[in-house]
Amino acid sequence: MNILGISGSLRAASFNTALLHAAQELAPAGMSIAIHRLHDLPLFDQDVEDQGDPEPVAALKQAIDNADGLFLACPEYNGGITGVLKNAIDWASRSGRDRHTAVLAGKIVCIAGASPGITGTVRAQDQLRLVLRRAGAQTEPLGEVLVFQAHTKIVDGRLADERTRDALARHLQSYATRLAALRG
Ligand code: FNR
Repeated sequence: MNILGISGSLRAASFNTALLHAAQELAPAGMSIAIHRLHDLPLFDQDVEDQGDPEPVAALKQAIDNADGLFLACPEYNGGITGVLKNAIDWASRSGRDRHTAVLAGKIVCIAGASPGITGTVRAQDQLRLVLRRAGAQTEPLGEVLVFQAHTKIVDGRLADERTRDALARHLQSYATRLAALRG
């Protein structure tokens, strides 16, 4: 299973990007997670889209299309998802000039998130599920990984907390099981 991993934060020391790196380490046998960075993605502009997808947009859509599933590391800003992540979803939700189907449609998406606060991105994750559903993606229904007080668990860019590592590993295993079941 080739999974595309995306962090909703551009920050070099991002807790969510660290979570993504931990997911790469903890992915079960048979699953690999490749990270796609959003740093070059322009802001969505329908006038630009009308002229054809810019290269970073085309690359994002191609990477999503090629992947068996997505792992989204979801930060929380003001009780919702970051503009960075919403922007990527907005681009990817569009069928574009050259495609009949939007690449997010039908994708099975695994979500986790980290925040220094005590709610661990629960509000952003709920919002992310709604947005993804509108874009035709499915979010796996098995549990949540909410890394609260992330600054105590992620040290020097590494997820160090063993209980959280176990929870993330179980989350990924559930995701793998679900993907395999849907494949039949
Ligand atoms: C935040 N932060 C935050 N945290 C949270 O748990 N709930 C929230 O609603 C918000 N709101 C918020 C708004 C803005 C504009 C910023 C910049 C930050 C704190 C946020 O969780 C923290 O900065 C994380 O470190 C962001 O994730 P990364 O960059 O570490 O992945």
